[in-house]
Amino acid sequence: MTEKQPKSLTLNLNLIPGGVFPGAWRTGTDGQHFSTLDHYIEAAKIAERGLFDAVFLADTPVWRYRGEYRPFRGLDPTLAHAAIAQHTSHIGLVATASTSYNSAYNLARRIASLDHISNGRAAWNIVATNGDDVAQNFGLEYGLDHAERYRRAHEFVEAVLRLWDSWADDAWVANTETGVYVDNARIRDVDYAGEYVTVKGPLNLPRSPQGHPVLIQAGSSADGIGLASRFADAVYTVQNTIETALAFRKKIRDLATGWGRDPDTVKVLPGLITIVGDTEEAARRRERELQELHTEHYAINALALQIGVPVEALELNKELPWDLVPPDGALGASGGHFAALIASAKRDSLTVRQIIARQGGGLTHISAIGSAEQVADQIETWYRAGASDGFNVMSAALPEVAENFVDHVVPLLQSKGIFRTEYPGTTLRDTLGLPRPADGWEGFINTARGPAGEAAFS
Ligand SMILES: Cc1cc2nc3c(=O)[nH]c(=O)nc-3n(C[C@H](O)[C@H](O)[C@H](O)COP(=O)(O)O)c2cc1C
Repeated sequence: MTEKQPKSLTLNLNLIPGGVFPGAWRTGTDGQHFSTLDHYIEAAKIAERGLFDAVFLADTPVWRYRGEYRPFRGLDPTLAHAAIAQHTSHIGLVATASTSYNSAYNLARRIASLDHISNGRAAWNIVATNGDDVAQNFGLEYGLDHAERYRRAHEFVEAVLRLWDSWADDAWVANTETGVYVDNARIRDVDYAGEYVTVKGPLNLPRSPQGHPVLIQAGSSADGIGLASRFADAVYTVQNTIETALAFRKKIRDLATGWGRDPDTVKVLPGLITIVGDTEEAARRRERELQELHTEHYAINALALQIGVPVEALELNKELPWDLVPPDGALGASGGHFAALIASAKRDSLTVRQIIARQGGGLTHISAIGSAEQVADQIETWYRAGASDGFNVMSAALPEVAENFVDHVVPLLQSKGIFRTEYPGTTLRDTLGLPRPADGWEGFINTARGPAGEAAFS
């Protein structure tokens, strides 16, 4: 049975520097541009012109080898988005931040700050970062194991939500008549004490425009899906076929229902690699051009890193060395991509060369490469089948493909009646059609802080 659909599909633009094809940046004249704020701002403005829901900045706080032949994304996403917010007015701003390597207080404050700065457009992509190389940047020898990372993530998000609710919506009085600026009786400690996260609170800034900035999650393991179904307003995912996507969306929705949530408030957004041409042939030609800019040397190293085997063990004309490939889930931070890659390589007995050619060196998302009509039709098919609530659009080249998508695909989606023709409000929650959560203060009496007004700051 087809799941119920929201009114507009959700489009998120993944701000991958230069685009998802690793060599795409080489078509530019100034290579460094692709790792700068100017590049992000340019792409975000294009996405906003196309009424996209949000732009997304991924992040991992570590330097990894795969950065050698493609533009890096080193800028802290919350800082970059605070700047992008000054150049845009409606588009949502998704910042990735780790629950493994942050303090809940600092991160709750940073994301709430972004929500204030952007007038209600902040979203947090919650990642339970894996990898000993990351741990070593934070004074640890090894990262937490998979289950522990997710237990910490649950606690972390619980604590952040409580911090965001530590100010009642009416606590920021700023009454020029009475001289009361803050009603301290409407601010409460959170006194959160878990196994991994302990924080007293309250936060040092008012509840933000969205109450709870939008939460996004992309875990693909059972633990990851558990976290997403409990907290996420939107879920990024790697899906290769309509059938698996249907099953995944149903699973997320069922689990969300189990947490007492309305499943229509969880958007499932598979990644979609796009190239839009005047004709299918032109799009395929562009694909080949972009692929040729991506050296085999880079591709084989990136693949080795992604699947966790030494590059020397990969032979171009052979299948993956299956005895060396770690089990699914061993590479937490890239587990979703890993599982999809392994599944397709096994299913089709792909050689290393074929994997590289077919997937651009490890790209595992489905693709829509063709004329605007073909791309729009593919999106419509998935959406109407109930396989997704929209897509995380991965332009093969940025800004080039995003611009083509906005100019040629968006109008077709609008004429099909499945995409908005204007932003419905000002906040990201408005755009996604999600309610603003209540502050949880109804009936709450903060006895520790005296009657309302008494403890106002002087
Ligand atoms: C579209 C997409 C974007 C992601 N972005 C990030 C990211 O920016 N940082 C990160 O550490 N992990 C990122 N991930 C990885 C997931 O957060 C998650 O760790 C991964 O899918 C493994 O899932 P698991 O931990 O449940 O095994 C992303 C995954 C997807 C599908």
